[in-house]
Amino acid sequence: MITKVLIGALAAVGSAQAYPQQSSGFATSVIPSATATGATPAPTQDNSALLRDLFTAPTAIKRFQRLLTAAGEKLLSAEELKKLVVFDFNNAQPNPGAKGGATKSANIETFPILTDLGISTTLGFLDACGMNTPHIHPRATEFLTVVEGQIDFGFILENGLVKAGNNAEVAGHLDKFQGTVFPMGSIHYQVNPDCKPATFVATLNSGDPGTSQVAQNLFGLNKDVVNATLGFPASVAGKDIESFRKTIPANIALGIDACLKKCGIDPAKA
Ligand SMILES: *[C@@H]1O[C@H](CO)[C@@H](O)[C@H](O)[C@H]1NC(C)=O
Repeated sequence: MITKVLIGALAAVGSAQAYPQQSSGFATSVIPSATATGATPAPTQDNSALLRDLFTAPTAIKRFQRLLTAAGEKLLSAEELKKLVVFDFNNAQPNPGAKGGATKSANIETFPILTDLGISTTLGFLDACGMNTPHIHPRATEFLTVVEGQIDFGFILENGLVKAGNNAEVAGHLDKFQGTVFPMGSIHYQVNPDCKPATFVATLNSGDPGTSQVAQNLFGLNKDVVNATLGFPASVAGKDIESFRKTIPANIALGIDACLKKCGIDPAKA
């Protein structure tokens, strides 16, 4: 059941410790090369003073007042309002070093009017064959709709959906104007299977859904723990995925190598 994770993970093995940790929990996910995932681009403008002000408003209407009016007297000018209520998804930039596409997210940080509204939206632009590598949103369910091209997707919910050893990946294909849902906390990915670009709109039921890339963050843990988690593989090569997958232990594994040695436990016999 971890195959799909591994495919992404394998690309990351070579530089496992090199990933930048996410500097904030915001929703911009990363596409697709493993070398760039995990980085969240800085928002285009610094909204922190505005956000501090919005967060301290005693009521929702006072928050909107602080954002959209001149001291609660009257609405700001049309030009000023436009900057606050229109989010521009154009010119999405790939993360540094990324290939295969780009995403752009409207969330409470990049679009402060979303504060306390429980919603955000990401547009994803996948080049031919581009992949949004497996990731989790810790605080939101996602509804994704394809608006250009086509997308293959898959998700794994959590432990216990099917009997251990059976396939747990719910996978499918979306054509233009078809959508699917990725339940909160599920590991999921999107791939453009076509030679033409694909675009999707993903709306999430949190203004701050967060994103955690699975392979990049697993391989960001210390190497002894990664080794034990993977079942001490002799090698991790693309051609060995099927056999490598079988060496991965269940959720409670034997433990890290140094401890096994200290306690005289032979993994081959345990
Ligand atoms: C992982 O564990 C195996 C088995 O003990 C060991 O041979 C190998 O060197 C370990 N790999 C790393 C990166 O520590």
